[in-house]
Amino acid sequence: MKLLKTLAAIAAIALASLAGAPAQAADPVKIGLILPMSGPFASTGKQIDAAVKLYIKTHGDTVAGRKIQVILKDDTGTAPDVTKRLAQELIVNDKVDILAGFGLTPLAFAAAPLSEEAKKPMIVMAAATSAITTKSPYILRTSFTLPQVSAGIADWAAKNKIKKVYILVTDYGPGIDAENQFKKTFAAGGGEVIGSARIPLKNPDYGPFMQRAKDAAPDAVFAFVPSGEGTGFMKEFAERGLAKAGIKLIATGDVLDDDILDAMGDTALGVISSHHYSAAHKSKENLQYVADFQKANPGMRPNFMSLGGWDGMDLIYQVLKKTGGDTNGDKFLAAAKGMSWLSPRGQISIDAETRDITQTVYIRKVEKIDGHLYNVEFDQIKDVKDPGKQ
Ligand code: DHB
Repeated sequence: MKLLKTLAAIAAIALASLAGAPAQAADPVKIGLILPMSGPFASTGKQIDAAVKLYIKTHGDTVAGRKIQVILKDDTGTAPDVTKRLAQELIVNDKVDILAGFGLTPLAFAAAPLSEEAKKPMIVMAAATSAITTKSPYILRTSFTLPQVSAGIADWAAKNKIKKVYILVTDYGPGIDAENQFKKTFAAGGGEVIGSARIPLKNPDYGPFMQRAKDAAPDAVFAFVPSGEGTGFMKEFAERGLAKAGIKLIATGDVLDDDILDAMGDTALGVISSHHYSAAHKSKENLQYVADFQKANPGMRPNFMSLGGWDGMDLIYQVLKKTGGDTNGDKFLAAAKGMSWLSPRGQISIDAETRDITQTVYIRKVEKIDGHLYNVEFDQIKDVKDPGKQ
């Protein structure tokens, strides 16, 4: 009897201590990663997924005593209703703590209200329309914005004897952001935009647009197309003979994406662009990143999308260290705001007011290094906030 009583007491103590322990300590931190792993923008998904896996392999799968569990979902890249359903299922059924990924702007827009309603941190690793971060107070962005990277090339063009520009952009959020910022900065530098056209996002046929740009006879074409689309764009630029007609190409780095740049061939040589990341960025951190990425993914070169995934994971790990593993939306956001760290792309920070990324924008030129095409940086603008919110 005495023994039984003692056993019961021990059991009661054990139960009490279990109940008293923070319930979440033993649970994994679940990250619902929604990416286009198939469809026309699959390269974005593959790059980010590879970077997320590399981050976990490099830094371990436990932070502040909690295991990190990534649940990857393919939204196919072109259907906002699919992204929305996946986000809903991840929150309700899988009980994820954090949403992440979002390859394209309409997909980020579709998930934003769910992040707000469920108070879940939402890490935008790719989509780059300025307004995205205003759609939920729980959004943090580790990619970039189109106004952020378009101002640099507009300023460079105005200072480098380019007087008349024709603008070609993909007809949705990031393209319109790029067009508006280019017009504003280029005009301020004394340049003139003599025409513009917007190309459909779905099944784009670049030929007729390129012809219109050529007929306008500008000094240069300024272009934005989303990651993965640059090859088709460059092919038509070459075939319609714009370079032969003396028309230069200037662009955001999306057009000269490292994932496909080498396959573009010599048409890309000499093209000037501005962007926040090049695989050729010369820093100790980036040399290590590119080497590790290529070792883990033979035949693949990391592009700017991969950095959004890498730094998104870095942000999550740093925040969890600060909160002691607490994923509560408000505590997570409070810890993330104002955070600053060194990424393979350079120094970056999360603006405390907008929750958007502040970073260096580089001016680059396509050059051949050891037989391969790279965006070689030759100038930089430090600490660029998203001008779309100023
Ligand atoms: C977006 C997608 C891209 O592939 C890119 O390079 C820039 C922006 C977007 O949809 O936001």
